[in-house]
Amino acid sequence: MGKEDVKKRMDWLCKEIRRHNRLYYIEGKPEISDSEYDELMRELRELEGEYPEYSRADSPTRTVGAPIPEKFVKVRHTAPMLSLESVNDEAGAARFDRTCRKEVGADVDYICEPKLDGISIELVYEDGELVRGSTRGDGIVGEDVTLNIRTIPGVPRRLKAKKPPHRIAVRGEIMMHIKDFQELNKRQAEQGRDTFANPRNAAAGSMRQLDYRITGQRKLHAYCYRILDLSEEMPPAQSEALELLKEFGLRISPKVKRCRDIEEAILYHRELEKQRDDLDYEIDGAVIKVNGFAYQEKLGRRATNPRWAIAYKFKPRKEVTRVENIVVQVGRTGVLTPLALLKPVEVGGVTVSRATLHNMDQVRKLGVKSGDYVRVQRAGDVIPQITEALKERRTGKEKEFRMPGKCPSCGTPVEWEDVFCRCPAGLACPGQLKEAITHYASKGAVDIDGFSDKTVELLRDRGLIKSISDVYTLRREDLLALEGWKEKKTDNLLRAIKKSKDVTLERFIFGLGIRNVGKHMATLLAEKFGALARIVSAGKEDLVAINEIGPEIAESITAFFGEKKNLEEIEKLRKNGVVVRERKKAAKGKLAGKKIVFTGSLESMTRSEAKRIVESEGGEAARAVSSTTDLVVAGEKPGSKLEEARKKGIKIITEEEFRKIIG
Ligand code: IVH
Repeated sequence: MGKEDVKKRMDWLCKEIRRHNRLYYIEGKPEISDSEYDELMRELRELEGEYPEYSRADSPTRTVGAPIPEKFVKVRHTAPMLSLESVNDEAGAARFDRTCRKEVGADVDYICEPKLDGISIELVYEDGELVRGSTRGDGIVGEDVTLNIRTIPGVPRRLKAKKPPHRIAVRGEIMMHIKDFQELNKRQAEQGRDTFANPRNAAAGSMRQLDYRITGQRKLHAYCYRILDLSEEMPPAQSEALELLKEFGLRISPKVKRCRDIEEAILYHRELEKQRDDLDYEIDGAVIKVNGFAYQEKLGRRATNPRWAIAYKFKPRKEVTRVENIVVQVGRTGVLTPLALLKPVEVGGVTVSRATLHNMDQVRKLGVKSGDYVRVQRAGDVIPQITEALKERRTGKEKEFRMPGKCPSCGTPVEWEDVFCRCPAGLACPGQLKEAITHYASKGAVDIDGFSDKTVELLRDRGLIKSISDVYTLRREDLLALEGWKEKKTDNLLRAIKKSKDVTLERFIFGLGIRNVGKHMATLLAEKFGALARIVSAGKEDLVAINEIGPEIAESITAFFGEKKNLEEIEKLRKNGVVVRERKKAAKGKLAGKKIVFTGSLESMTRSEAKRIVESEGGEAARAVSSTTDLVVAGEKPGSKLEEARKKGIKIITEEEFRKIIG
């Protein structure tokens, strides 16, 4: 090939790959197979390596795929994503077996699978093409992560079948392998980004990337375990359903075994637990499922669990290590917590080097001293815990822990409240300041990417940040003057800070770090009051009138907004350009703006499901009938609300009619 031809070929490859990107990512109608696509990419990459002078800045080797979406679109699942009831011992498994046999009136065989500790997804294929992938969300409505899913190599974009079904929806689990998780955390730490607590969080964080190219770099795996919906005849049992998934080219949960009875299933659990540490990924138990679908149907479900399956959990993993020291940490609200610094130990693939001891009560209960050998456990995403001090291994050199009389961060004399010890200095205490800012910048709050606690510490120590609002007065030249802060890092942080100025009400409220106001409470406040000013001026009565708010929470909220300092800080944030978005009521959906009351029992859904459906369709599910009620849905044995509605002349419909409305 002459040089001219090479250039022509490279231009053609760029154009062709871009065309396939569009077909694949945007139109969902790929014309070529994955390997043919990879081949084109490989050729282009090779040529670019050889002839860098012809390589283009907009080459698809640098900019892959579809435009990055601004937010995830909500999608309704094919069927609610249920959870599994857990049992912890053989007796629990045997009980499950007895109930199953009694209800179906026959012996049942089981299919046993590892309980994969990842995040659940739903995949939908239409005429063989992957058309949608969605995350759990609230179980009814999830987030559309199709673009992200398409970057996972193990998820076929096209089913392997000559005549694929018109539609198939499957459930599975997205997992990150332990080795990849450790490497990712290493990279994150090197780049000054937050690390993930465990492989599951890492998988979740990777899926939640709007920029799906990041997901693509994260080495994820997908294992499928259930067919939810099939446009053709369903196989008669889970064992066959799994075979069918495999035939289609979907990866199924490994180590699946069919068991004749519960004794075999219990043995399976025991064997699997032994193999647990040899696996590449985290599992936290065995799922025992009734194999036959006819029996599954007969057994049905409870509100949130199927009655045909259980999760038979493993014992939490424990290891023995030594407490090297017990130090005191100052929390965001000034509470001092004892923290055990441990000789690093690997507990199920994750290195543990610290464990919180919560408070003095816990220290006393465990009787733990500095220098003790202790057992530490890690269960699921729970922070490592010390479960026991091995007193028989003491040498006499261990040191008892005492809470200091002064705050270790600022020296202010501490105050005691029950078992809690607190530094009363507020944001004047550097320890509290750091925690408050880290919290404000965290993912669930205003989400400033790259604002790790190390960065906050550095900025605080240099006197660049003395309060939360100072985050917005950081200057480029000040950052560039810090050691290790090059242009790229600085500009990334400044960009992230700028982005965080536009924030939703619930995130902002959560970010303020009001005592007793977690994410859920912040969302509730945002929903009920709609605007910051209304929350600030809410009195205790307004607050306790809300169902989930008791006097203690109301007191925390009014106390926070009663502090002049806090109000000044909010004002400063506003002056520095933070815009807290008011919450508008969802105006879209089939029940937009409608207030709906349910009475009597519903047949096809639980009350909370019904409530969620109403909300996802833009309506509001109210408890009592009032003059503002738009619609009353009457189920079986309706109560006095029906009478109320009749009296008030409010429209009444049956459950059937309600289902028709929501489609
Ligand atoms: S079947 C109807 N099988 O566990 C319930 N779930 O606690 C269907 N999970 O949301 C669940 N491995 O994310 C099933 N082999 C397996 C599983 C599994 C992990 C997860 C799944 C589900 C959660 C339920």
